[in-house]
Amino acid sequence: MDGRVDERGEQAKRLRDYFEVQLLFAEAIAARTSRLLSDTCLELTNLHRRFGLGRPDGGAPSAGWARYAAGLEGCASHADRLDWTVAVFADAPPEARATRRFGCFSYELLSPDPVVRIHFSNRDSADGLGPLARAKADRRQAELREMFAHIGAHHTDARTVRGGSWLYNLEAYRRLFPPDYAASTFEPERVRLDGTSSWGQLLDFREAVKPAVRQALLDALDTLDLAAPWKAFPLRALGAEAPIESFHRFYGEIPA
Ligand SMILES: CC(C)(COP(=O)(O)OP(=O)(O)OC[C@H]1O[C@@H](n2cnc3c(N)ncnc32)[C@H](O)[C@@H]1OP(=O)(O)O)[C@@H](O)C(=O)NCCC(=O)NCCS
Repeated sequence: MDGRVDERGEQAKRLRDYFEVQLLFAEAIAARTSRLLSDTCLELTNLHRRFGLGRPDGGAPSAGWARYAAGLEGCASHADRLDWTVAVFADAPPEARATRRFGCFSYELLSPDPVVRIHFSNRDSADGLGPLARAKADRRQAELREMFAHIGAHHTDARTVRGGSWLYNLEAYRRLFPPDYAASTFEPERVRLDGTSSWGQLLDFREAVKPAVRQALLDALDTLDLAAPWKAFPLRALGAEAPIESFHRFYGEIPA
């Protein structure tokens, strides 16, 4: 069997519970609003991105999503919808990256300024230790040092760095960054749920769902504020922002 396909199939099995919580969340909101389930899935889960279709842009849905949506609406039960979702993920290409990866980190340039947006995904836990463990903090900072050296060399007009994630609640994450950036965290007015900035807290480093976080999210559905569904998550996605000089200084690329 093709190794990549096999690996993808294994990941689909691992992520089944993650997809299940996302479906339950979208189903509950669809039931309360009479919206189509495929629409609440598009807006309030990260399935579009997990299927390798990129960030939903609010325009006409892509052919890939239209096919998933039609299949979803045709399912008779939650169990069928979950099977369908796992199958579509298993068949989908990996998520595309606009820029190169630096270990667990990558970045995106937001126009027009341009602003550097930091992304984190777990690429270092095969040894049984999570990527944010204290013992791995030097490794993570080395990745950030390399990434900011690259950004400094290739995007000289970038002045500001911005993040938005549940991870900024964790000292284990904040300690990787310049103190002014780590101290700048704030609650954004709105939080999108079509990425990982809130959903990521459901996963542990083995890509298994954390039972307590799952339960807390599902319990919160009873009192969900439909105008602010991100508030149902136990940890709020926080924003952070600092000038790029802080990063160059902190990682030792320019003298203090
Ligand atoms: C980030 C990720 C690897 C953390 O998984 P994990 O199994 O909790 O990893 P660790 O055990 O290494 O935990 C890291 C630290 O965070 C803390 N932590 C993790 N989840 C927590 C939670 N819900 N509440 C409080 N603390 C938490 C742990 O206690 C630990 O801190 P410590 O080292 O000081 O004890 C995992 O959630 C993940 O891969 N998520 C998807 C990626 C993601 O969210 N990216 C954000 C994109 S914006």
